[in-house]
Amino acid sequence: MLSKKATISIIKCDVGSLAGHYIVPKPLFDIAEKNLKKATENGIINNFYVFNAGDDLELLMVHERGEQDKEVHKLAWETFKDCANKASQLKLYAAGQDLLKDAFSGNVRGMGPGVAEMEIEERASDPIVVFAADKTSAGSFNYPLFRIFADPMNTAGLVIDPSMICGFKFEVIDTKKNRAIVLKCPEEMYEMLALIGTVGRYTISRVWRASDDLICAASSVSKLSLIAGKYVGKDDPVMIARAQHGLPAVGEVLAPFMHSYFVQGWMRGSHWGPIMPVGLKSSKCTVFDGPPRIVAIGFQVANGQISSDDEGKPMLADMFDDPAFALARREAMQNACMLRNMGEFEPARLSAEDMEYTTIQKVLEKLGERFKPLN
Ligand code: 13P
Ligand code: 13P
Ligand code: MG
Ligand code: MG
Repeated sequence: MLSKKATISIIKCDVGSLAGHYIVPKPLFDIAEKNLKKATENGIINNFYVFNAGDDLELLMVHERGEQDKEVHKLAWETFKDCANKASQLKLYAAGQDLLKDAFSGNVRGMGPGVAEMEIEERASDPIVVFAADKTSAGSFNYPLFRIFADPMNTAGLVIDPSMICGFKFEVIDTKKNRAIVLKCPEEMYEMLALIGTVGRYTISRVWRASDDLICAASSVSKLSLIAGKYVGKDDPVMIARAQHGLPAVGEVLAPFMHSYFVQGWMRGSHWGPIMPVGLKSSKCTVFDGPPRIVAIGFQVANGQISSDDEGKPMLADMFDDPAFALARREAMQNACMLRNMGEFEPARLSAEDMEYTTIQKVLEKLGERFKPLN
């Protein structure tokens, strides 16, 4: 029997939020759910799950239309527009924040919303984990993606499972020059690290198993500041990882998050902050607009949809809602306190290069006029 191709699309947008940049409130969820339910009835998508990463509205949709499908992207775009209108009526904060362009031309890429998509040939069983982060940037997944697919100290399968010893291929995007390179690990691991360690510029966008080019991860790469030419909010990226049976196990996909690590974002998108893995109930940013949060939703893809129960309800696992990540959360708070003690001194604040698109430039320009040359 020919296996079906399913496409997992996660498309996200900050459409406006409650109490500053805190959360997506219920009226916006209701609109998104209503629109996506209708699209399911109309056969555009097969099923969906709406959730939030802090103030970002996340539309997880499974369908059989392939990646970058016009109908699916239009559905997401119009849903975000409807939500932004409601956000304006309610005078929510930064209504329509990430809707950076007006005329929709068939694809939300380059228009503000973040997208990760993966078309897969369904295996006998296909476990998937989708990640969504708030108060951080594209590039924040370089570190976990490296750990998951290239680091044998994280992923035992790279050593133990003969179908993974071939290694993995990574597509790395140079967001400043709009170009891409594919690097193969372990052979080109050091070269890859030379690039992806610069998280503000290089972003891993896709990962394939080297032996058969099986797609196993996809992440969003859009940088809002590069689209808008100024600071309008952070990218707040999403990523999809496929697991098990010749790929890293779900437990290996989650293992990099046992510890917190530093990402760009946090207050005004201008600071280094410790990432905090949390369950959906804690997917909201508070102190200094953070610390940056990440949620992980696990599910199975079956027959072109998110595997559902007898009532047709998608079955989902809130993977970071677990005491196993309590240490990482504690580390995140300890590091958050350490960084905040530094105030506006680097390395708490981003480097001058990374501040290029923030309003600090206006402050510096004003001071520039007052500088006098030294004799
Ligand atoms: P598979 O590689 O067959 O998915 O199993 C590995 C495993 O169970 C590790 O937890
Ligand atoms: P968001 O990108 O999550 O909207 O955050 C913007 C901000 O400036 C937080 O301080
Ligand atoms: Mg916001
Ligand atoms: Mg956000």
